[in-house]
Amino acid sequence: MTEQPKRAPGGFPVVGVVGGGQLARMMQGPAIALGITLSVLAETDTSSAALVVPSSPVGDHTDLAALRAFAATCDVVTFDHEHVPQEVLAVLEADGVVTRPTRSALVFAQNKLAMRERLTELGIACPRWSRACTAEDVDRCGEQWGWPIVAKTPTGGYDGKGVAVVGSSDDLTEWLTAVGEPGPLEHGILLEEKVAFARELAVLVARSPSGQAAVWPVVETVQTDSICTEVLAPAPGLDRDLSSVATEAALRIAGALDVTGILAVEMFEVTDEAGRATYVVNELAMRPHNSGHWSMDGAVTGQFEQHLRAVLDLPLGDPRPRASWTVMANVLGGEHEELYSAYRHVMARDPGAKVHLYGKGVRPGRKIGHVNVSGADLDDTRARARHAADYLGGVVTE
Ligand SMILES: Nc1ncnc2c1ncn2[C@@H]1O[C@H](COP(=O)(O)OP(=O)(O)OP(=O)(O)O)[C@@H](O)[C@H]1O
Ligand SMILES: [Mg+2]
Repeated sequence: MTEQPKRAPGGFPVVGVVGGGQLARMMQGPAIALGITLSVLAETDTSSAALVVPSSPVGDHTDLAALRAFAATCDVVTFDHEHVPQEVLAVLEADGVVTRPTRSALVFAQNKLAMRERLTELGIACPRWSRACTAEDVDRCGEQWGWPIVAKTPTGGYDGKGVAVVGSSDDLTEWLTAVGEPGPLEHGILLEEKVAFARELAVLVARSPSGQAAVWPVVETVQTDSICTEVLAPAPGLDRDLSSVATEAALRIAGALDVTGILAVEMFEVTDEAGRATYVVNELAMRPHNSGHWSMDGAVTGQFEQHLRAVLDLPLGDPRPRASWTVMANVLGGEHEELYSAYRHVMARDPGAKVHLYGKGVRPGRKIGHVNVSGADLDDTRARARHAADYLGGVVTE
């Protein structure tokens, strides 16, 4: 692997991606098609993206020197995750590095307390929430909203790590000690009412520095043990008014926070006092997102191509679906480390299934890939996607 990205002739740019996970990896296909050179600052030389991107220097995303050296070889820097510290981003900004999204937008995807404050200011519907620093704060929320409540570490969470349902302030203290982050309660924690949602939705927006935005249809996301396991695109039976207000809210958030690249707005579908379907926002992500993997095969423009176009301020592609339904099923690691032999069965059984594996080692419950299936019938499409993903994950054997 070379340290210096090799630029294609013809004036094409180098896009740097901090983090070598599957999201960076999946940018490589569209980057190749567009003649754009990708360079990845990877955790190790066997990180998911480092296996497929020739220029993948190894460096830690909190190491300022590593980031500076990396950014100096790129025209624009974007991210595979949200964990580059604000202090590091501030130095890069002062150096004149173009990061997309910018530091001031990214904070709302890095810090759930900052996100709740800003969305509330914007008048976007959120669950009832509060910042707690003492056991009394916690008890007050539990009494007002009803136990149990949801506690979240403001930073650093993913796949439900950093989220706990707690039945008392003692429960919360116990959990904080167990996870070690953000340290003792005095450091501040986000509390939310436990929302009795009908289902989880997500809206994915791409926005460019010029302000052009494109939005995919609202999708339903299904989580199992706090990990996204399925996405149904579009969300089946979604109320037409809810679809437009949810879409409007996501576009408004993208504009108000000046997001560049992909913004995922995770939402809960709830029923209002008048019995109508509506939404509250769960959280934001500013990078390609699991809820958009369906678009790689199911939309005219997939999220990874769109992310590259957006961060380079190119005109955005058409986000419209190509089929009535596309279902994405995540492949979770099982007991077997050997994956390739499953291809024969999966491909023979369903030539329409599109398999995406991430080159990651198998650990039980780890996201190692996904399968997209498009079709005219939702139940059939869903069953096909689920079967292929489960077979690859070793959940089913025939
Ligand atoms: N206030 C809430 N009420 C009920 N359930 C919640 C609430 N907040 C979170 N959850 C559940 O926990 C899951 C994970 O929460 P959240 O999305 O905030 O965490 P995360 O670890 O940052 O997420 P991700 O897996 O998207 O990285 C949600 O998808 C939802 O199922
Ligand atoms: Mg989430």
